[in-house]
Amino acid sequence: MKEEAVLDMPASETTPLLVVQTAPRRQRYPHHVLRRTCTVILGVVLAVALTLFVLPIRLVSRNDGSLSVNVPWSKSDSESWPHGDGLTYKELQAILQETPIAGKIEEWSKYYTAGPHLAGANFSQVLWTQEKWKEFGVDDTTIATYDVYINYPLDHRLALLKKKGADDYDIAFEATLEEDVLEEDSTSGLPDRVPTFHGYSATGNVTAPFVYANFGTYEDYQDLIDAGISVEGKIVIVKYGGLFRGLKVKRAQDLGAVGVIIYSDPQEDGDVTELNGYEAYPAGPARNPSAVQRGSVQFLSVAPGDPTTPGYASKPGVDRQSPEHSIPTIPSLPISYTEALPLLKALNGHGPKASEFNKYWQGGGLAHKGVEYNIGPTPDDIVINLYNQQDYVTTPLWNVIGVIKGTIPDEVVILGNHRDAWVAGGAGDPNSGSAALNEVVRSFGEALKTGWKPLRTIVFASWDGEEYGLVGSTEWVEENLPWLTVANAVYINVDAAATGPSLSVSASPLLNKAFYEITSIVQSPNQTIKGQTVRDTWDGRISSLGSGSDYTAFQEFAGVPSVSFGFSGGKSDPVYHYHSNYDSFDWMRRFGDPGWHYHVTTAKLFSLLGAYFSEKPILGFNATDYATHLQQYVDHIRPHADKLPEQTHFSFGPLERSISHLHAAAVDFDAYAADLGSQLSEDVPWYHWWKKLQLFYKIRGVNTKYKNFERKYLYEDGLDGRSWFKHVVFAPGLWTGYAGATYPGLVESLDAGNVTNAVRWSEIIQERIHEATKLLE
Ligand SMILES: *[C@@H]1O[C@H](CO)[C@@H](O)[C@H](O)[C@H]1NC(C)=O
Ligand SMILES: *[C@@H]1O[C@H](CO)[C@@H](O)[C@H](O)[C@H]1NC(C)=O
Ligand SMILES: *[C@@H]1O[C@H](CO)[C@@H](O)[C@H](O)[C@H]1NC(C)=O
Ligand SMILES: *[C@@H]1O[C@H](CO)[C@@H](O)[C@H](O)[C@H]1NC(C)=O
Ligand SMILES: *[C@@H]1O[C@H](CO)[C@@H](O)[C@H](O)[C@H]1NC(C)=O
Ligand SMILES: [Zn+2]
Repeated sequence: MKEEAVLDMPASETTPLLVVQTAPRRQRYPHHVLRRTCTVILGVVLAVALTLFVLPIRLVSRNDGSLSVNVPWSKSDSESWPHGDGLTYKELQAILQETPIAGKIEEWSKYYTAGPHLAGANFSQVLWTQEKWKEFGVDDTTIATYDVYINYPLDHRLALLKKKGADDYDIAFEATLEEDVLEEDSTSGLPDRVPTFHGYSATGNVTAPFVYANFGTYEDYQDLIDAGISVEGKIVIVKYGGLFRGLKVKRAQDLGAVGVIIYSDPQEDGDVTELNGYEAYPAGPARNPSAVQRGSVQFLSVAPGDPTTPGYASKPGVDRQSPEHSIPTIPSLPISYTEALPLLKALNGHGPKASEFNKYWQGGGLAHKGVEYNIGPTPDDIVINLYNQQDYVTTPLWNVIGVIKGTIPDEVVILGNHRDAWVAGGAGDPNSGSAALNEVVRSFGEALKTGWKPLRTIVFASWDGEEYGLVGSTEWVEENLPWLTVANAVYINVDAAATGPSLSVSASPLLNKAFYEITSIVQSPNQTIKGQTVRDTWDGRISSLGSGSDYTAFQEFAGVPSVSFGFSGGKSDPVYHYHSNYDSFDWMRRFGDPGWHYHVTTAKLFSLLGAYFSEKPILGFNATDYATHLQQYVDHIRPHADKLPEQTHFSFGPLERSISHLHAAAVDFDAYAADLGSQLSEDVPWYHWWKKLQLFYKIRGVNTKYKNFERKYLYEDGLDGRSWFKHVVFAPGLWTGYAGATYPGLVESLDAGNVTNAVRWSEIIQERIHEATKLLE
């Protein structure tokens, strides 16, 4: 899953049942808590011991770190910081630039997209990934298993019915719920291909009149209410696009609807439509009319992860909660625009037209097919039967975790991508990222072969269950929270690496500087002038983090500064068949990334960013940028206070004052850190070893503060009504899901017109900013 500028998809049907491969249930290990606790304590003791003794000794020793040469007559060492043994940073960078190649990317893509790999349903891809990473040289590669609650599709039906008598209907249209099998697309016709369905959708069989609700945004439903149109007892049909699909279902459910149908309207396809003369895939770049967007309908903005274990890991034997707080109770199905046509046309002439509503309701892309976009509802004798049968199970998920131990054990850099896909292909989402990650691991493996050892520990993660709701990464973070809190400096995420040519990036502002620097040393795959870097051909826009990929638990639950990036298409690029059978190897090779250049570029950015954080003596953060952005976010949310009721007033003054204190402290701190960095290159004779020792402790102190900075924004009690989300600055928008909301607690209070609560949130945020300021001072 990932935030999509352009969304859509096709259909499947009532037939192919999914054969789910599940591992045998493991015995619960009764002492696992005790064992874990001991492991954690031992780990911390070892880390402290290393920090106090081993590192300083290495510091005053020679570059190779061996004590035997740490003798007065050995020649002086201008490098005052322990660093990756065996290679200089520059040499390492050269290996990371040179290793990834298109041929290998293609090989990995071909493998991952050859067969179905739904969450928890393809253990051979797990073993294959583990084997590959070991083969590349990362010996410490293990499998982290969780037992999670998820669904697999059993059966479904969607039909348009015309009532004849009391219990007697004519079938006006029976949907196939299938995507077309294409000769030119080899995985579109696999006998075991994945049916069209929604992750975490409810089982149900409903027959009711229906209503068209545009994109199903919060405001769209409000517009219906204002127009006196009720969705209660009705089936709602909405378009994909704009917000996370689960929230379209949530609001329908809250308003009493009995079922939801979500279809892919060509309106979301930019200029590349059949109406504009483009041929549809496989002949051309336009959307195949039968394409269906599968996907999760979890209430992502309430809580990601296993819905039965919010806030703790789904290990065998743990308590399970009722999942209803974060998944729907009404059934839903995704369909193609071809199969939406008869339903939308059945609305013609019933109720007002979308064109009579505000601007957000304009522009449906099926008018030329005879759809008038009436809102309905249909009369009582025109109904839809929506039947959805899901098999809910608690089944193992498998994350593959590779570790390269560094010299500093408690400043860990984590690089992750998910492996599970909604379809056999998934060449874009996620396996363009998986192919890139394999090249990243292979590149670091090449460095290891030279005898290199990183300064900081590097962890690679191939997550499972991302598509259902970031499940594999969330459970892993929840399980390892004590260790991550102490040790994790940064998380770098790639979901879909390459589905088009435009770079999109979201990040904690602490990491902006790093991202600009790394994009400036990687060649752009599309140069109009020779030598242009990715930075040169990119608009430089970095968004705030919302949700929709595996950084969520790191950033918003654990307070680990994170970045997520990838290349995707714009409105004049070939339509990406998101979560459809046509997100396939064949589509990728012909339309998505011919030549695999954007994959290779992503692999380089990914590994070089990892090395930037693992190798530089001073962690590559910038607190000033963070403070600057905190102020920009205030400017951004200011309009939310304009809508407050008469006689009430809210002031941003105190919040802004706390930010300006932080800004001053951050400028000083960054300058101090930069100064320590430049002292490292000064030549200190060996007999002034205590100066090096002093510098070591100062740098160590700076890095610890940088590492802990983001944690300061966590608020123990979490956001109102969604306490899993702990970060007071970043969260997914309550009613957007993908897109980031800044100062969510404050904004939601203002939107609710509750000034008391807005003041409370302003104080909570100020307190957090104050703590962050104290940390830097
Ligand atoms: C698992 O993935 C492999 C490689 O993509 C594929 O060949 C195989 O068919 C899949 N197995 C199952 C059981 O779906
Ligand atoms: C769904 O419910 C209807 C009655 O409302 C029934 O006729 C039909 O057989 C049910 N479908 C399934 C698959 O159970
Ligand atoms: C390459 O960049 C040029 C200029 O920015 C743009 O017009 C073109 O569409 C791009 N081509 C690809 C394949 O991205
Ligand atoms: C941090 O960012 C600020 C503002 O972007 C910049 O002026 C400063 O030089 C940066 N400091 C470091 C150490 O990168
Ligand atoms: C406003 O928020 C406060 C908590 O700060 C809460 O106690 C109160 O019930 C809220 N008022 C309304 C009208 O929702
Ligand atoms: Zn994804």
